[in-house]
Amino acid sequence: MPVQIIVGAQWGDEGKGKIVDHLSENVDIVARYQGGANAGHTVVLPPKNGKPEKEFVLHLIPSGIFHKHVTCVIGNGVVLDPVALMTEIQQLKDAGIKITGRLRISHNAHLIMPYHKLLDAAREKGVEKIGTTGRGIGPAYNDKYMRTGIRVVDLLNREVLCKKLKRNIETSNEILSKLYHSQELDVDSIINEYQEFDRKFDEFITDTSEYLNNALKKKKVILAEGAQGALLDVDHGTYPYVTSSNPTSGGACTGLGIPPTSINSIVGIVKAYSTRVGNGPFPTELKNEIGDNLRKIGGEYGATTGRPRRCGWLDAVSLRYSVRVNGIQKVAITKLDVLDEFKEIKICTGFKVGGKKLNHYPTDTQTLDTVEPVYQTFKGWQAKTSDIRKYNKLPKEARLYVEAIGKMIETKIWVVSVGARRDQTLMVK
Ligand code: GDP
Ligand code: IMO
Ligand code: MG
Repeated sequence: MPVQIIVGAQWGDEGKGKIVDHLSENVDIVARYQGGANAGHTVVLPPKNGKPEKEFVLHLIPSGIFHKHVTCVIGNGVVLDPVALMTEIQQLKDAGIKITGRLRISHNAHLIMPYHKLLDAAREKGVEKIGTTGRGIGPAYNDKYMRTGIRVVDLLNREVLCKKLKRNIETSNEILSKLYHSQELDVDSIINEYQEFDRKFDEFITDTSEYLNNALKKKKVILAEGAQGALLDVDHGTYPYVTSSNPTSGGACTGLGIPPTSINSIVGIVKAYSTRVGNGPFPTELKNEIGDNLRKIGGEYGATTGRPRRCGWLDAVSLRYSVRVNGIQKVAITKLDVLDEFKEIKICTGFKVGGKKLNHYPTDTQTLDTVEPVYQTFKGWQAKTSDIRKYNKLPKEARLYVEAIGKMIETKIWVVSVGARRDQTLMVK
């Protein structure tokens, strides 16, 4: 069975973009199944024809786009911001990447509208701030589940689009002006702008569920690329400090319209330490010099918003939970090189509440905010790993660290990444 799902096992930014790009060499299709332009997936391309290496941050287009033979799919589970998509397509075209014939967008994907972004920003001005990316994600999924959303297919019919947009803009204007005393939007200019998008997108719009199921029949190899991470999942994450979709593996089937029986492998991407952007519980957060060093060495600033990421030690309790809710069968550990200089490295192996050991992973914010992490300390390797190309050539202490993670989460470690480039990827035998 040819579908492999790639999920972020923590709070996002684990290095999914890098690993998906690396794996894309051997697949036919890469498909995004949820989220929107809140994602920022970084791919670093090697130097070519005398040009230096180049970094791309993808928000909507799957990270397989840099491999000519790969077709990229934006599935029905994604909330699509046409403005962000057009910018991204243009950036890729400017860099000489061919898009025509290689991108398919689900006709059932919901569109992010200007009012979604305004509502997102307005809600974030309130006291219970989530710390969203401000990309309109929550309000767009809200419309989807309220059954008032506007889908890609609606762009094809001017009458339907006008009717739905008018209704939604009027409602949003009421909320924006009365509840948030915020600016209102002009109906006609939005209708014109979005009809223009239809002209530009027409060539990409596809029944992607049918396309993917046909590809399955032809034994094509498909990579399902998750955005965000399991602990940001609206059902399984640290609610309410989550995103509004299902990044966990189950989301791949509903978000692409492929059957669960087509899935043959689920890979978790795990950063060698922890980071989180935005608010919400983070038991192993280090609000000290060690955390600052992780941020500095790891370049931990949001790929989408530029916000500094909160940093801390690896949390094996959360990871065990993530392995369970995703059904992760093997793991890629990224950014091991960031730990190169540390004298001591810690992993959280358990939680305590009021001095008592906790036997389950609490997903309620109140408990998670108060848990005391129990740590196991590892000796650092204090050697450069980014030039190493074979797993067994890593310093002994680095291998012990990696293997300890595997044991703690009872999962095979498949890949270890020691740098952002493709060649800095070690297969673990
Ligand atoms: P994603 O959202 O999961 O795709 O991750 P991001 O792209 O937001 O963040 C990961 C960052 O780490 C990016 O800047 C990557 O280029 C970088 N990166 C990925 N893997 C490695 C690695 O093994 N070592 C180092 N030093 N950087 C990495
Ligand atoms: P990738 O795919 C890290 C976080 C936001 C906020 C919460 C809700 O690059 O790993 P939203 O805008 O989705 O309503 O914000 O989720 N968040 C991410 N954090 N990586 C991401 O994506 C994220 N996408 C959303 O910071 O805490
Ligand atoms: Mg990211």
